[in-house]
Amino acid sequence: MRKNIVAGNWKMNNDLAQTETLITELQNQSKTSNAEVMIAPAFTNLWHAFQSLRQDDVEVVAQNMHFAEHGAYTGEVSVSMLKSIGVQTVILGHSERRAYFNETDETLAKKVDTALLNEMRVIFCFGEELADRKSNNHEAVVEGQIKNALFHLEADAFENIVLAYEPVWAIGTGETASPEQAQDMHAFIRKTLADKYGNTVADSVSILYGGSVKPANAKEIFGKPDVDGGLIGGAALNAEDFYAIVNAF
Ligand code: PGA
Repeated sequence: MRKNIVAGNWKMNNDLAQTETLITELQNQSKTSNAEVMIAPAFTNLWHAFQSLRQDDVEVVAQNMHFAEHGAYTGEVSVSMLKSIGVQTVILGHSERRAYFNETDETLAKKVDTALLNEMRVIFCFGEELADRKSNNHEAVVEGQIKNALFHLEADAFENIVLAYEPVWAIGTGETASPEQAQDMHAFIRKTLADKYGNTVADSVSILYGGSVKPANAKEIFGKPDVDGGLIGGAALNAEDFYAIVNAF
């Protein structure tokens, strides 16, 4: 079922004490919208966050995981490790993972498979770079990213997939895609899904927008018919701003 979701991607921010503080501040906010709320702290703080938020309406999710189930992969974290502390959703394919850690469509397809096989929900990220948009190639790039990493899946796999369109040029730059640019791309993504899997699947998948979403622009972006929420970076590190975005629905 298509849901509204606002997920905070904390990236490599907040040590344990800062995590405790931000969680307390989040617990002091009130939610007035129907959006599902998620936060993605660093691996070292997931267990603490999970314990602290047990009674709250906030899901704790991971920022990444390896595609292997276990083994000699120094420094990596597996799906069963995440599941063993209660994590049920993982962000995969963030543009920073693609750009700085060489994650390709191929490795992401393997990560998606491992996650789904282990009943882990996936927030799958993708998006074009500025040069792609300038050369009017953005739709082809996004279509390729989705097809290469996801189109080997059966239709029912999409019950456990959330898509996050994040134009690279809008991440952490203060430059947001206009609500119209976001809507156009989200409609294109839904059509791409519909062409392969049919309208029922396409209409049931939540598609989030990410890239400099702030309290000031969230309402307009979330007001677009094919935008089902946001993946929030910088603004998720401030509890009031984050809840202003959650409550923008
Ligand atoms: P930003 O990051 O909100 O700081 O632009 C979004 C993201 O990377 O998910």
